[in-house]
Amino acid sequence: MKKTIRILRQKGPGEKAYFEDFPYETEQENATVATALMQIAARTDLAWEHSCLQKKCGACAMVVDQKPVLACDTALASCKGEVVVVEPLKKFPVVKDLLVDRSILADTLQEMQVYAQEQTEEQGSDGTGYREETVYEAARCLQCGLCLEICPNYYPEGTFAGMAAMAPIARLLAGEEAGRIKKTYTERIYEGCGKSLACRDVCPAGLDMDKLLSRNNKALRRKKKRR
Ligand code: SF4
Ligand code: FES
Repeated sequence: MKKTIRILRQKGPGEKAYFEDFPYETEQENATVATALMQIAARTDLAWEHSCLQKKCGACAMVVDQKPVLACDTALASCKGEVVVVEPLKKFPVVKDLLVDRSILADTLQEMQVYAQEQTEEQGSDGTGYREETVYEAARCLQCGLCLEICPNYYPEGTFAGMAAMAPIARLLAGEEAGRIKKTYTERIYEGCGKSLACRDVCPAGLDMDKLLSRNNKALRRKKKRR
């Protein structure tokens, strides 16, 4: 297979971005965009982020042929044209080339006080399986940021925290922390989400955003009734 990998490069923050073409040839039918980038990075100073190469860490999130994807989960054979256009995520500041600064993801969780909150054994089960299922579903979030990239309502300076924050918050809303978190949830998620659910189509963890949103909203109503 022969492809031209066209990469949007940038030497550093604020520097002019430019496209550079790299020819890539491989015998591997299952080669991915990540496979090509590794080879290109070995012979140039290309910057990009990756770790597991198994769709498990979210590090290699980027835009390929205008779609937010994980590079290690994007087969080159699935890219239609001979030229594959690879760009950094656009809603995060570029550090260099395809490497972006996603610290806003952790900062938002910290601001909302939903970081490092795990369900404890003492919180136990509610007897319906609802809590366990929600906690399990939400814990699969990779914090990759692809949902923010595609979301028409998310922009970095805005109030809406996006689905990357909704997943961790769902764990708290399903448990004993619901009372503490509901104001933050209302302001940072509920009021900002336009329900386009574009995030659902790009989430590599396959999170059921629809279900999490409706469960969160239900948990919110339940807490309101109890007041
Ligand atoms: S919700 Fe999905 S797309 Fe968004 S950060 Fe988590 S894993 Fe990535
Ligand atoms: S490198 Fe971990 S998801 Fe791609």
